[in-house]
Amino acid sequence: MIESVLDALLEPAMLLDGSGRVSVANLAAQERLGVWVIGRSYVSVLRQPALLGPVEDAYSEGTSGIARFVHSSGQVETLFEVSISALTEAGEGTRHVLLVFRDVSDAHAGESMRRDFVANVSHELKTPLTAVSGFIETLQGPARNDAPARDRFLGMMAQETARMNRLVSDLLSLSRLEGQSRRRPTEVVDLVGVISETMGTLRPGADTNEVQIVTDLPDSAAMPADRDQIIQVITNLVENAIKYGRQPGVVTLSLAHVAREPVIKGPAWQLSVRDAGAGIAPEHIHRLTERFYRVDTDRSRAKGGTGLGLAIVKHIVNRHRGRLRIESVVGQGTEVLVTLPAA
Ligand SMILES: Nc1ncnc2c1ncn2[C@@H]1O[C@H](COP(=O)(O)OP(=O)(O)OP(=O)(O)O)[C@@H](O)[C@H]1O
Ligand SMILES: [Mg+2]
Repeated sequence: MIESVLDALLEPAMLLDGSGRVSVANLAAQERLGVWVIGRSYVSVLRQPALLGPVEDAYSEGTSGIARFVHSSGQVETLFEVSISALTEAGEGTRHVLLVFRDVSDAHAGESMRRDFVANVSHELKTPLTAVSGFIETLQGPARNDAPARDRFLGMMAQETARMNRLVSDLLSLSRLEGQSRRRPTEVVDLVGVISETMGTLRPGADTNEVQIVTDLPDSAAMPADRDQIIQVITNLVENAIKYGRQPGVVTLSLAHVAREPVIKGPAWQLSVRDAGAGIAPEHIHRLTERFYRVDTDRSRAKGGTGLGLAIVKHIVNRHRGRLRIESVVGQGTEVLVTLPAA
């Protein structure tokens, strides 16, 4: 009877008998914690003091409690919150203890991600803020009557505040994107027109860095898309190719039609941005779309980057139900491919 009741629970549960042995482990417990636990003493099964203490109390005092338990199998660690209840059978006086495990790994990961996020944002804002307050002090003191120095400091202050502005607008973009991730864009946009228009704003930056942008585009490419978001994607990918590519050098931007994209399961447009720069080592590639992730933080920061660009690109591509792929060979260059459904 008790076996069937516990098996009906989705969460792992174990019943410990009067002698401290596991008498019942439900299906979920056998699956997630191992079949071998049945018949063994709880001390050898649980082994973590944080959990053993409350179980001992349940036996000796008849108390209930909650404890944390970390289960590792292979590479994966699962964090459980365990509820411990003492059950005393009427008349008999023997004490049993019921353990129910709740998987709290996701909630816990979310919490630490939020903490990291706040720490990152604060750090990214603190650096330019400290610089600006330093410049203000200098302008109030030593540089008060030195006109050329004043101009130089004001220039640097403008640069630092521009960086803070960019960071804040990137953060706002990200949170807006998270809010609308389930709403697909409906407006029909000509991708070729959007690309040509965006090139106008990107060319001056490319010229300054002696980078030539070569495009290979069809006559038109209609698809349902959010125009401003597509501009953000193109801008970040081309800016990255300019910043981290070869200077002087060439960046190639091309757009091709795919009759049937296997994952999208239909016709698609594939946008490719390719540079011939230093490339990215394979261990970094899958992490590039994490917020604030940069291969070389100092280099990126020196170029005005905050490491949010590809995180934004990834969100936008997801919202368009598309795919993002980064291919890179160290020493040869990088190609970023964005595939978007054409219908
Ligand atoms: N084409 C590329 N070649 C080499 N490394 C790249 C390339 N594109 C991106 N990276 C690496 O990926 C990191 C993350 O890129 P991302 O666009 O997210 O941030 P960023 O360019 O540093 O800053 P932001 O885009 O916010 O201005 C970069 O810091 C860089 O290390
Ligand atoms: Mg970028």
